[in-house]
Amino acid sequence: MINPRSITFRLTLLFSTASATTLLLVGLLVSSLVESHFEEQDLIELRGKLELIRHAFAKVRTPSELTNIPNSLSDALIGHPDLSVVIRGPDNRLLFTTSNATFATYLFEQPSNGDVYSNETKLVMWEQREHIYRGISATTATGITGQPMATAALAVNIEHHTAFMKSFHTNLWMAIATGILLTIVLGWGAARRGLAPVREMANVAKGISVNRLSDRLSSNSVPPELTNLAIAFNEMLTRLEGSFHRLSDFSSDLAHELRTPISNLMTQTQVALSKGRSIEEYREVLYSNLEEYERLARMISDMLFLAKADNGLIVPNSEIVNLHNEVRDLFGFYEAIADEQSVSLKLIGEGTVRGDRLMLRRALSNLLSNAIRHSSYSKLVKVLIDQTNPEEITLVVENYGETIAMGHLPRLFDRFYRVDPSRQKTSDGAGLGLAIAKSIIEAHKGKINAFSSNGITRFEITFPSVLNE
Ligand SMILES: Nc1ncnc2c1ncn2[C@@H]1O[C@H](COP(=O)(O)OP(=O)(O)O)[C@@H](O)[C@H]1O
Ligand SMILES: [Mg+2]
Repeated sequence: MINPRSITFRLTLLFSTASATTLLLVGLLVSSLVESHFEEQDLIELRGKLELIRHAFAKVRTPSELTNIPNSLSDALIGHPDLSVVIRGPDNRLLFTTSNATFATYLFEQPSNGDVYSNETKLVMWEQREHIYRGISATTATGITGQPMATAALAVNIEHHTAFMKSFHTNLWMAIATGILLTIVLGWGAARRGLAPVREMANVAKGISVNRLSDRLSSNSVPPELTNLAIAFNEMLTRLEGSFHRLSDFSSDLAHELRTPISNLMTQTQVALSKGRSIEEYREVLYSNLEEYERLARMISDMLFLAKADNGLIVPNSEIVNLHNEVRDLFGFYEAIADEQSVSLKLIGEGTVRGDRLMLRRALSNLLSNAIRHSSYSKLVKVLIDQTNPEEITLVVENYGETIAMGHLPRLFDRFYRVDPSRQKTSDGAGLGLAIAKSIIEAHKGKINAFSSNGITRFEITFPSVLNE
């Protein structure tokens, strides 16, 4: 089926239109050149004969010699069966004629006063008794002084030319039509061949499935026009592969994370049921179970929050939030835990942003709890708010502790990611805190980055400035 939108069809159409136009123009040019060549040849021949006649007339010195003209002309014109000649004297008397000579009368529209008359540079064409002629006419002077001019008319039957031109035209147009057909077929073949790399790309793309996500198009073997497409396609595959692996890691992490609290619950329950217990002991088991349930419930609600954030369903409120006040409140909340670990908290700077107070609190709270938890040799957690840049507001949470290796930094914000998995139990979360913080900050059009060097770990948040609104 021909699809008018296919590139092969369009290219074929373009090729054939271009070559058809060229062939037609060349055909027209060739046929007009051949035609004018024949005309020129006829004119040269007729003028040659006219010269001959003029020459014969010029030699005539007496009126009696004039009567000899027919004989001398017949000899001179012998062997030219296609040629017709008529010569009339001044009184329109017929002086000479070849046999079967036929002429259009207008060739003899000569001035009656015997003036010089010439129609010898341009051929006149006419049709008579089913024959086609080309002819010229002109006056010719005799050598007799005072004798008025005679008029000679010459014509050739050009039937053989027209017959030739007819077959020439037929052949020419047939050749052109064949040429056009050939360009359609060859153009179609060339377009299909030229587009073969695209089909190859499509075949490779077809073969890519979840199990073969690592397949790539080779950008070296495709033509340069398609290199960018191949590169973009490969990059897309790399992104998809990354997302796909993250997703499958995520589900296996999720299963893993759920397994621990559930197996804890099961063991505790089994142990409790293994023998008779006092009410006090049962109560203890239930309390301990409650802790695990809470942990599970927290994890599930965190996961729900992240799933909503992924789908763009987290729409933060838009209120003016004083960051200084929020951090100060959080310090109040964490005071007890910080005191317990003899960590001191320090807040420097002021700043306001537009956003959702509760969400921002949740994000900051996680950064603070991490910082307190990971404080080691110098027990100081600093929060620095900076509003000096009119474009943005930064908030930095800084603590002294073990340096996080470079390789871990970009992954800290991944779900369930922990630098040291063995600390899993001691941490207060399931490794979702930073992922949630990141999606909250991004829902506020902000950015969050982690830096860690020389025992100082910093989490830096930048918010767009409220001044820009
Ligand atoms: N201030 C910090 N210093 C060192 N490591 C940190 C700090 N904050 C976060 N991390 C690392 O990032 C991981 C992910 O943090 P988070 O998403 O909050 O999960 P969680 O707190 O549940 O472990 C933590 O397990 C920890 O390894
Ligand atoms: Mg945390």
